[in-house]
Amino acid sequence: MSQAGQWTATVMARRDTGDYAVVTLSAGTDTSAARAGQFASVRVAGPDSALLLRRAMWIGEATSSGRDGGTIEVVADRGEPGGAWLAAQPQSARVDVIGPLGRPFSLPRDPTHCLLIGFGAATAALVKLSEELVARGCRVRFLLLGQAAAFGVLAARRFSSEIVDSSGRSIDPREAVLDQLDDSVEVVYSAGLAEQLRPLGQIVTEMGVAHQTAVETPLVCGSRTCTLCALPVRGRDGVTRMVRACTEGPVFRADLVRWDDLGTVPGDCLGAGEEAR
Ligand code: FES
Repeated sequence: MSQAGQWTATVMARRDTGDYAVVTLSAGTDTSAARAGQFASVRVAGPDSALLLRRAMWIGEATSSGRDGGTIEVVADRGEPGGAWLAAQPQSARVDVIGPLGRPFSLPRDPTHCLLIGFGAATAALVKLSEELVARGCRVRFLLLGQAAAFGVLAARRFSSEIVDSSGRSIDPREAVLDQLDDSVEVVYSAGLAEQLRPLGQIVTEMGVAHQTAVETPLVCGSRTCTLCALPVRGRDGVTRMVRACTEGPVFRADLVRWDDLGTVPGDCLGAGEEAR
């Protein structure tokens, strides 16, 4: 996994795709080994703006050669103020970036039948993953869900002809997943907002299928400082801890996430209530 770095990137290009923009930035650090599920933390707007926070953006293609020593693509959601800001930056604009961050998806050792379930911009992580899976001889099927149009449907077609695009429609995600989760599926990979993933996490676990999930949470600092990205996850020792999605995630084993307790610190969580004592 490549080492994270912080640098001032130059906007090299922008490609609009539906509700999203793929922004190519110069890579000030070696990002070529960035893996599917990792993200970049982008400081949006200047010091005079009301947009003071950083935004986590999924990483697409990354190269190690070319102008300025390589490039990295990030996916900006134009329906979100920070993403809209980045998408509006002209060529040559300068942007503060930290990345690649986070724990990526793990790949199966052997060719495997994989169901990839994506929501909105987070589908970018799965498109990148599908390239890595297909290179290993895996069969890849996509299920795209969520109220917003999913990112990268055309890009996904480069790696799979099996794409069920139900994004932008009001359908029950549980039913959609059950429709696709036949006996041939050996591994599920998913990516989206925590509340979007919650119903899938429970269903796939109940069906006993291995499931890795990339959870989008507010990522204010991206560097273990603010704890705003923490969610309750059971460890292999059975003990629940609040873990930071920006460093211990964003990819987790879905059966270990306490989906019903998202947004809370469960009473049995390690360290819960210590401040009150
Ligand atoms: S985003 Fe601040 S600790 Fe994770």
